[in-house]
Amino acid sequence: MEVVLKAGRALELRPLRLADARALFAQVDANRARLRRWLPWPDANLSPTDSRAYILQMRTQAKAGLGQTFGLWWKDQLVGVAGFNWIDGANHSAAVGYWLAEEAQGRGLMTAAVSALLRHGFHGLGLNRIEIRAGLRNRRSRAIPERLGFRREGTLRQAEWVSGRYVDHAVYGLLAAAWKARR
Ligand SMILES: CC(C)(COP(=O)(O)OP(=O)(O)OC[C@H]1O[C@@H](n2cnc3c(N)ncnc32)[C@H](O)[C@@H]1OP(=O)(O)O)[C@@H](O)C(=O)NCCC(=O)NCCS
Repeated sequence: MEVVLKAGRALELRPLRLADARALFAQVDANRARLRRWLPWPDANLSPTDSRAYILQMRTQAKAGLGQTFGLWWKDQLVGVAGFNWIDGANHSAAVGYWLAEEAQGRGLMTAAVSALLRHGFHGLGLNRIEIRAGLRNRRSRAIPERLGFRREGTLRQAEWVSGRYVDHAVYGLLAAAWKARR
């Protein structure tokens, strides 16, 4: 059975389905300039067919237990994506990634979505460690783990090639024991 996560009254995280390809592509296309500042893939996502291929890849990854990617549905609109980019079952660890459409920014939606992912990861999947790597200069992205009690663990220099430049990553980690202690 597919997992649907609730994050407050108006926001739901639903596993991406092939039927979402058009809505997903429409958001990628409308937010392309913003997203490509921090994410490496928008330049390779040029049609609904590319979004379909991405969704298929994410569904295959989820079936193998190697990741979980959700569409963010707010007021019945697909407004972003968040999930576990990878899950390392042997080490009970996973990494969270996310993006939001511009119209949905600034309302706490992603903080709520990541908080729901933490509950699902630590509680539902039995993870011990969840990490977030955010661009060192990506203030909005870094604010999310900082709001949610992650510890800053270091910097990966020139960790990612994004839109013609290397981006340094700030690495944040949260352990199950620390998450449980905050509740
Ligand atoms: C990273 C990204 C998802 C952050 O979006 P965001 O809207 O700033 O994050 P949230 O949805 O958690 O909202 C937080 C904002 O809402 C405000 N807010 C309002 N109500 C809130 C609430 N109940 N709880 C938390 N924040 C709230 C916060 O003050 C903050 O705004 P501020 O930065 O002006 O102070 C978004 O900027 C994005 O998609 N960027 C491009 C892609 C990207 O960088 N992805 C990450 C790659 S590492």
